[in-house]
Amino acid sequence: MAEPIRVALAGATGRTGSAVGRAILAADDLLLVAALAKTHVGQHLGALWGEEAVDLTVMATVGDAATQYPTVLVDFTDPESAYPRLLDAVDRGWSIVVGTTGFSRIQREELARRTERQGVAAALIANFSVGAWLSERMAMEAAKFFPDAEVVEAHHAAKRDRPSGTALRMASLLATATRRDPDSIPVHSVRLPGLVAHQTVMFGAAGQVLTIRHDVHDRSAYAAGVLAAIRRLPALAGRMVESLDDLMPPANPPGDARRPPSG
Ligand SMILES: NC(=O)c1ccc[n+]([C@@H]2O[C@H](COP(=O)([O-])OP(=O)(O)OC[C@H]3O[C@@H](n4cnc5c(N)ncnc54)[C@H](OP(=O)(O)O)[C@@H]3O)[C@@H](O)[C@H]2O)c1
Repeated sequence: MAEPIRVALAGATGRTGSAVGRAILAADDLLLVAALAKTHVGQHLGALWGEEAVDLTVMATVGDAATQYPTVLVDFTDPESAYPRLLDAVDRGWSIVVGTTGFSRIQREELARRTERQGVAAALIANFSVGAWLSERMAMEAAKFFPDAEVVEAHHAAKRDRPSGTALRMASLLATATRRDPDSIPVHSVRLPGLVAHQTVMFGAAGQVLTIRHDVHDRSAYAAGVLAAIRRLPALAGRMVESLDDLMPPANPPGDARRPPSG
């Protein structure tokens, strides 16, 4: 069997990072070798996760994590701290799988340039859940017939960026499909306790409304997409991708229905 892929996880103590980290732990072909965070630096990750078997101390920087020889950095933190961290990782020759949202276009372009220059791979995906990816595909189809659309995204009160990266991406896809300016697609944001991550796209036409809605109730929804991205990185050397289109295995033939991958 091939050596497992050595993964460093930034944001390991966060809501999403801890769900993704547990999926990495459970995968035979992946090895979690380093955990990065901010306020929990120096603490025992196993104790924080309630997983005795995880014997990692939370670190602060990519330089600290380098002592464990990761080849991939997975990042679920915040855009301000993530950007220099990701540049550092790419410059060290690591590939990156990035869930953190809120980067500017200029930052994304610079990450793509460095990725190409270093010959590593980057997956910068605004939403790793298979349901959100399917929503995009369905919305692109619907927009061909219903060009008038608005996006409503609703998230937990602690989410910092607004609108969400997923909603901005949806607006951009709808604009492309209808040959309009992305700013012409209204995006509404809701931040409330009790929510996790929810998105509705409403298409209006004479006498009818079509709604495409996706709800994430638990952050384990993101794990399968992250694991698919890590495994696909070797085939993406020198490229940065921003869609699960480039990462998911091909669909099964008709009549061969299956559940979404669970990690
Ligand atoms: N792409 C997707 O599918 C997807 C899905 C869900 C969320 N997200 C994005 O993922 C990011 C994290 O969301 P979340 O809800 O999991 O956040 P969260 O629960 O607040 O967790 C944030 C994590 O980042 C760490 N962190 C914060 N500032 C840091 C810094 N300066 N240096 C190092 N680590 C730092 C925190 O460490 P401490 O705990 O030690 O402070 C914590 O581990 C957000 O950008 C969110 O939009 C993306």
